[in-house]
Amino acid sequence: KQILIINGPNLNLLGKREPTIYGSQTFEEYFQTLQTLFSDVELHYFQSNHEGALIDKIHEVGFTFDGIVLNAGAYTHTSVAIADALSAVTTPAVEVHISNVHAREAFRHHSYLSSRVKGVIVGLGLKGYELAVRYFV
Ligand code: DQA
Repeated sequence: KQILIINGPNLNLLGKREPTIYGSQTFEEYFQTLQTLFSDVELHYFQSNHEGALIDKIHEVGFTFDGIVLNAGAYTHTSVAIADALSAVTTPAVEVHISNVHAREAFRHHSYLSSRVKGVIVGLGLKGYELAVRYFV
């Protein structure tokens, strides 16, 4: 199986970004754990701070891969364009948020993406990515 994890803006700073909210592990380190855990899966990782780059990546894998695990960061709450990209492709996606967005500011409560994905995992820390990959496996 081919599965892509996509992280959006500011998630390249995981480990040093607001560690009380997002934890102190870098995603690169966690990704290695995931690859060990799912050694029978072709697991890929892509991160960008740019909305268009995230859309290009969804298009690139969205007709051939088996699943997309997407944490679009703050674009979750703003991007009709990423929502449209998810609708345009055939590969199903699962939306992940490390923090419990519903326990935070009101502007984080709405997601443009949630109606375009199979399901949403919020608030379970980095573990959410593992659970999302497990869903596709
Ligand atoms: C986030 C939640 C978003 O509201 C925020 O903008 C992020 C990270 C999360 O993983 O908890 O960048 O997607």
